[in-house]
Amino acid sequence: MLDGQAAVVTGAAQGLGYAIAKAYAAAGMRVALLDVRGDILERVAAELRAAGGDVLPITVDLADAGATQSAIDTALAHYGAPRVLVHNAALLITRSMLEISFEQWRKEINIILQAAFILSKAVWRPMIDAGGGSIVYLSSGSGYKGFIEEVAYNPGKHGIEGLMKCLALEGKEFNIAVNAATPGAPINTPMSDSNYTESQKQRWVDPELLAPAFVFLARQDASGVTGHRVAARADGGWDAIDLL
Ligand SMILES: NC(=O)c1ccc[n+]([C@@H]2O[C@H](COP(=O)([O-])OP(=O)(O)OC[C@H]3O[C@@H](n4cnc5c(N)ncnc54)[C@H](O)[C@@H]3O)[C@@H](O)[C@H]2O)c1
Repeated sequence: MLDGQAAVVTGAAQGLGYAIAKAYAAAGMRVALLDVRGDILERVAAELRAAGGDVLPITVDLADAGATQSAIDTALAHYGAPRVLVHNAALLITRSMLEISFEQWRKEINIILQAAFILSKAVWRPMIDAGGGSIVYLSSGSGYKGFIEEVAYNPGKHGIEGLMKCLALEGKEFNIAVNAATPGAPINTPMSDSNYTESQKQRWVDPELLAPAFVFLARQDASGVTGHRVAARADGGWDAIDLL
């Protein structure tokens, strides 16, 4: 079902987004790869093309609304309506309320929440016209619990969980599934490297082990799993909690 269909993956240069993009390309999907790290993205695109993938790297700062709109317009013009949009890019810089500036706060919120809105709005009509689709936001334990020194990342993750629930309800009429996904295990990525404790690092897993849950989510529409928080497990399975 996914072979030949389009996907959009943000934060695809490294970490979990790279693992998801690689799994989609391996499933025969045509993948738009969005990331601010154009240098790494070009290497990823070359690697996936060498393995037979059809991918389009798009360098974009997702904190910038206009650039985000241009990037998704480019992806849509190239591949048409995506079967799945995965908004995975995020920035976590731990800072207390005393330390953080408004500009720093706004940057993290924009990458996580503003970009989620702009990207989803851009694919909404094309997905309706295509008869359905699947939207996935990367959430976190920070999407429902508070953590110290996360005054930007945490409300951003709470925000995408709210957007997910509202769009899942609206999407039922149009056969669009909207879900939030979380790593069900600590993952070995650049983000974790700078934020995890040594004991967390002892049990972290390769993000490629979590990719099967994202292949499953790419196949969903409103008749399947929607309005859920899906925790991707390292054994290739997933646990899903209905939030509607
Ligand atoms: N690492 C974990 O254990 C963990 C836990 C819970 C949730 N998550 C979530 O999973 C997702 C992926 O996490 P990760 O660990 O792979 O992160 P990561 O930092 O390793 O990778 C994030 C990617 O997003 C890109 N990115 C950052 N800012 C950007 C911007 N302004 N514009 C475009 N791209 C930008 C980065 O270049 C990078 O390629 C994130 O949404 C994160 O919040 C991760």
